Amino acid sequence: MTRADSSDDDSVALRCQGITHEYHVSGQSVHALTDVAVSVERGQVTALVGPSGSGKSTLLRILACQARPQAGTVEIAGIETTVLSARQRRTLRRAHIGYVYQDPADNLLDYLTVAEHLTLGARLRGSDDDGRKLLGVLGMDDRIGHYPRQLSGGEQQRVALAFAAVGEPTLLVTDEPTAQLDRGSARLVVGALRRLADHGHTVLVATHDPDVSGVAERVVELVDGRVECPQ
Ligand SMILES: Nc1ncnc2c1ncn2[C@@H]1O[C@H](COP(=O)(O)OP(=O)(O)OP(=O)(O)O)[C@@H](O)[C@H]1O
Ligand SMILES: [Mg+2]
Repeated sequence: MTRADSSDDDSVALRCQGITHEYHVSGQSVHALTDVAVSVERGQVTALVGPSGSGKSTLLRILACQARPQAGTVEIAGIETTVLSARQRRTLRRAHIGYVYQDPADNLLDYLTVAEHLTLGARLRGSDDDGRKLLGVLGMDDRIGHYPRQLSGGEQQRVALAFAAVGEPTLLVTDEPTAQLDRGSARLVVGALRRLADHGHTVLVATHDPDVSGVAERVVELVDGRVECPQ
């Protein structure tokens, strides 16, 4: 396991320090993260692993500016995000972060075709990339005119990856991308993550799947909300 820590600024897409977060439900506190420090290198796959409940999804949401930590800092493309307004964080998310949720149903818009998703993703990031090449890498270029309901769950996840990655966001985040897939679809997604990084994308993935962590340059392990130090 690699403990993420400081490294050369130019090579780092994202860095967080001192991330601490707890949930409060019905008067009860649940400690999710304690003093977490992680850095994500550009052009690499970084895998976040650890037991169920160790805080992976919570950390992804915080790093992707979807939630604010109770303490700590998150720097993306040199911008400290935790002090930004909700509006600024939304703008930063659109420009810099592609996010793929575990459940295919959460990723795509029912009323947009595959092509329209790619156009929207590129527009959000100010890119003129039409995403067709990426869709080809993912083996979905023959479904360009189809709506999500006309695709299987595994196909939707591959389109969701293309939608999240088009226009080269600073960071592509994906939470257990193979959890709901058969081995064949999972293999395609694993291959796509590796190829995306080989083409210069920066990928941060939470996973229980050894095939996913197996293609990562760096593996960060969370245990009980803390980064496990390498032995
Ligand atoms: N909305 C919430 N309200 C209260 N507690 C929560 C909430 N979301 C997560 N938790 C708690 O925070 C801790 C970390 O949860 P999280 O979902 O981040 O773990 P995880 O590592 O992603 O788990 P899994 O591998 O099962 O997806 C767990 O104890 C969980 O019960
Ligand atoms: Mg999770």
